[in-house]
Amino acid sequence: MLKLQENELSYPFSEEDLETTLLMPSYRVELRNATHGKDEFLNANIVNDWSQLTWKDIGRPYEVKTVAKERTLWEKENQERMPVKTSWEYFNRSFHEWFVKDVPTELDEKMKALTGHVKQFRFGEVKEAIGDLVKLRLWNYVHRIEDGIWDPRGKRALFEGLDVQKPKILFLGAAEGYEAMQLSAMYPGAEVVLVDYDEYCKTHRFEEFPESYPFLGANPATGSTKVWYKNQLNIEYVVDDIRNLKYGREFDIVLSVGLLEHVPDDHKPEIMDMHRRFVKPGGYIIMTTPRDQLKSRLYYKVMADVMNHTYRELMNIQQMGLYVYESGFDIVRHCYIKVHNGIIAKPR
Ligand SMILES: C[S@@+](CC[C@H](N)C(=O)[O-])C[C@H]1O[C@@H](n2cnc3c(N)ncnc32)[C@H](O)[C@@H]1O
Repeated sequence: MLKLQENELSYPFSEEDLETTLLMPSYRVELRNATHGKDEFLNANIVNDWSQLTWKDIGRPYEVKTVAKERTLWEKENQERMPVKTSWEYFNRSFHEWFVKDVPTELDEKMKALTGHVKQFRFGEVKEAIGDLVKLRLWNYVHRIEDGIWDPRGKRALFEGLDVQKPKILFLGAAEGYEAMQLSAMYPGAEVVLVDYDEYCKTHRFEEFPESYPFLGANPATGSTKVWYKNQLNIEYVVDDIRNLKYGREFDIVLSVGLLEHVPDDHKPEIMDMHRRFVKPGGYIIMTTPRDQLKSRLYYKVMADVMNHTYRELMNIQQMGLYVYESGFDIVRHCYIKVHNGIIAKPR
């Protein structure tokens, strides 16, 4: 009996809850499927022939120049540029704090604090409290209401229909590993290796990812829809630099989410090479990057202290695709999903 109750707590949703969506304090539960046909979640096939596209036609990505205060302070104190790995360590701690927030409670508290400062004419505090509230409201909208960061419907639309059975999946720069969990749910029996050189990603971002978050996927016995949870998936977490990995060409899928846009152009071929190196002949690489659109530029401006510890670009799907194509990949699928570009490709 006790066991049953524990299970119900960890696995609160089942196939009976399909087509429902629910706002939790920190995130959205999304058990609705993408509405295909309306191009609402998958806006594909913008480019017909990648070999005809040139940088002159499409221009280079937009570089986000507003930097997190923590980085500026660190560089002032240490009299040197923040090393790349350190910048990721700052980023991961900062970003994780936002994923675990109880947003409605915090909004309430911040509102009360602001009212208190206004009543007592504490103008310095009023300005700071307004800044905090703007960030929290933006986070609430982007992550919790719109579900733009995890975007399960968009990701499912991007990932569907791959020709793989019980795939071996390698996630480069995995952070909390969300997309590999979504893929494993869709392709049951998957073996996942998450790799990140920041140990905090294993011990906090992945470990504290909610056990009760439902991933919509497939039932291997019947082929129908099934709800999966983190603890039911086969996941190994490796803390290492992706440049040190000793795997061969053994993965059916090599995945990265938000990696390519964090290096300037002269390092992009190296990033692409990391993907090629570990993918089986005939296997897929899957990549997403944040879209260059006005609202994303605004988001990274407002959220600079939370997000901008590292070098960062925003690109459109043509720019992302051209990097991938020029690095020797054929593009199988390309799309916009909410706030991301998505590409599925195979080495040529
Ligand atoms: C922008 S994050 C990926 C986006 C992720 N979905 C998130 O929510 O943060 C990129 C991740 O790659 C990791 N990373 C960057 N360079 C790496 C390298 N050379 N080896 C291993 N991990 C790396 C960082 O530590 C970071 O966690």
